[in-house]
Amino acid sequence: MAFKVMGITAGRKDSNCEILLKEALLACQEMGAEVQMINLKDYELLDCNGCTACTMGMSMGKHVPCSLETKDDKHKIMKVMLDQDAVIFAAPTYDLMPSSLFLKFMHRNLAYESAFLTKIGAIPHKDRVAGLIAVGGSTRAWQSMALECMQATTFTNSFKVVDMYMATQVPAPAQVLLHQEKLDRAHEIGVNIMYALNTEPDQRKWLGDPDYGWCPNCHSNALCLGEPQWGGLHYPIECVVCGAGGDLEKTEDGKWRFVIASNGLERDRTTEEGRGVHCDEIADTQGGFFSNPEKRKLVAERLPKYKEIQFPGLD
Ligand SMILES: Cc1cc2nc3c(=O)[nH]c(=O)nc-3n(C[C@H](O)[C@H](O)[C@H](O)COP(=O)(O)O)c2cc1C
Repeated sequence: MAFKVMGITAGRKDSNCEILLKEALLACQEMGAEVQMINLKDYELLDCNGCTACTMGMSMGKHVPCSLETKDDKHKIMKVMLDQDAVIFAAPTYDLMPSSLFLKFMHRNLAYESAFLTKIGAIPHKDRVAGLIAVGGSTRAWQSMALECMQATTFTNSFKVVDMYMATQVPAPAQVLLHQEKLDRAHEIGVNIMYALNTEPDQRKWLGDPDYGWCPNCHSNALCLGEPQWGGLHYPIECVVCGAGGDLEKTEDGKWRFVIASNGLERDRTTEEGRGVHCDEIADTQGGFFSNPEKRKLVAERLPKYKEIQFPGLD
């Protein structure tokens, strides 16, 4: 049976994201995949309302569907998206990060968190592959969080990102058509997706530039100073995406590199085991609040002061 590959974009119609995504999907189709593509602009999508019914349920071992499941098109898309062998996401960069439409769609993935749902036995494990394309008018400097935010929203559903590409300096509609090398790179994403799909799931690896980014684990290009985490785990430096922990070291040729500590992948967010720790954290911090009458009483006593304060809004 042919592999199923889907393209999901949030870019303008007939513009840069759509063109690069189609180029990547063409490669998949040429290599035998059954391909489909949607633009999120064609669907009604509501913002996550923060009800936390999904995570409260999951932290208590229950599968509680998204409270918006019947209110918009998210669930309709998810039923198809989660049935794919691979998805290629293409998002326009707005203010250094993926556009709000892309993020709005992806933040709703929490209700479908595959690590949490497999952990409580609500869904079977499924191996999925992803490719990411970020498109912006500027250079990397002005797309500094684009791919990283896309990575962070794809690990929620256990997509293994095997390649990602930042198309730079294409601000005008369809301007990317002036750059054959960008089209070729998008095509290569499709080829790499198919290569990964034709590899046993436990053998699938990163297929982009091996030196891309700071993090040798997820290839994100963003690190931060570590702070004590839930349970006390503390690394000097962390990858902001996968959470790999370690430190910076100077190489013989005087360059800095991020070296992952021996326990640095304990909470690797790209794995279901690593994200499962976060499910335990939610059960402790959120569940520990709801199951503690004393804490709930204190909040109920302190809340009225803030509810009563009404500063002027707009006329
Ligand atoms: C509101 C807005 C914010 C933008 N911010 C950035 C930015 O921070 N960095 C950047 O490189 N491009 C930025 N752009 C340019 C778009 O990323 C660029 O036009 C891109 O080609 C859009 O992709 P599309 O043609 O597929 O829609 C911005 C565009 C808009 C409309």
